[in-house]
Amino acid sequence: MENLFEIQNVSKSFAYSTSAFSEEKKDFWALKNVSLSIKKNEILALAGESGSGKSTLANCVLQIIKPTSGKILFKGKNIFEFSKDEMKKYRASCQLVFQNPYSSLNPKMKVCDILAEPLVIFGEKSKSVIEEKVLDVIESVSLSSSDLKKYPFEFSGGQRQRIAIARALILKPEFLILDEPTSALDVSIQAQIINLLLEFKENFNMTYLFISHDLNLIRHISDRIAILKNGELVELGTKNEIFENPKTEYTKKLLSNVLNII
Ligand SMILES: Nc1ncnc2c1ncn2[C@@H]1O[C@H](COP(=O)(O)OP(=O)(O)OP(=O)(O)O)[C@@H](O)[C@H]1O
Ligand SMILES: [Mg+2]
Repeated sequence: MENLFEIQNVSKSFAYSTSAFSEEKKDFWALKNVSLSIKKNEILALAGESGSGKSTLANCVLQIIKPTSGKILFKGKNIFEFSKDEMKKYRASCQLVFQNPYSSLNPKMKVCDILAEPLVIFGEKSKSVIEEKVLDVIESVSLSSSDLKKYPFEFSGGQRQRIAIARALILKPEFLILDEPTSALDVSIQAQIINLLLEFKENFNMTYLFISHDLNLIRHISDRIAILKNGELVELGTKNEIFENPKTEYTKKLLSNVLNII
């Protein structure tokens, strides 16, 4: 399978003050020499304890932050050397769905404007095209056109996450980063959102980077799993390799936590 991304030796440090009363700064390495590829059309799960660097890696891939060193190639090209035009295309084709649907939607905007915004930002001027795409996408997440005039506070958590997903999908991206997309939702709503995401992936041939603490969920949906520990990639394998034959104590510990919950 062809690689969509190649992440090569990516490290990221953040400077932090050693005390509230001193100017002294130290480097904290949130990512240490991480190399992995993301294959076209796969669901790659990123797991690891809180603080292990999962969101930092996602933010590097989306160019929200720049790695301290290392390269990220998208279809063979270094994303930090993109021209303005290439950057614009990249921004449209890679989208993010956050953990918290309560804070990720602008509370002052109506749903129709929330959904139309990416189209407008990317230069769509035709009102009828915008209307058609907004109607299309709201129905695809099983909400209705009557929801478009409402504000985010008028929806439940699960419905808000559907709106956030619709917003991420409206530009027809080929790649989605899902950073704990269902961890703020209750279990039955979780399943609906996950099924919706799986359906979209199949229908639109997408590739997902799926970040989660929930190894049960990861087992259900992912093709391969990458395990991060303190900023280092400690293990990467197919779902079966990781679950049937984990190589590191850390992975075994993460898996044993799953079994404890069951
Ligand atoms: N902007 C920042 N400035 C300073 N430190 C940061 C910054 N962003 C992340 N960190 C630190 O980097 C480490 C990795 O954070 P990150 O958010 O990537 O973890 P995570 O694996 O996503 O955790 P969680 O599962 O809790 O979301 C943490 O120790 C965090 O405090
Ligand atoms: Mg995170």
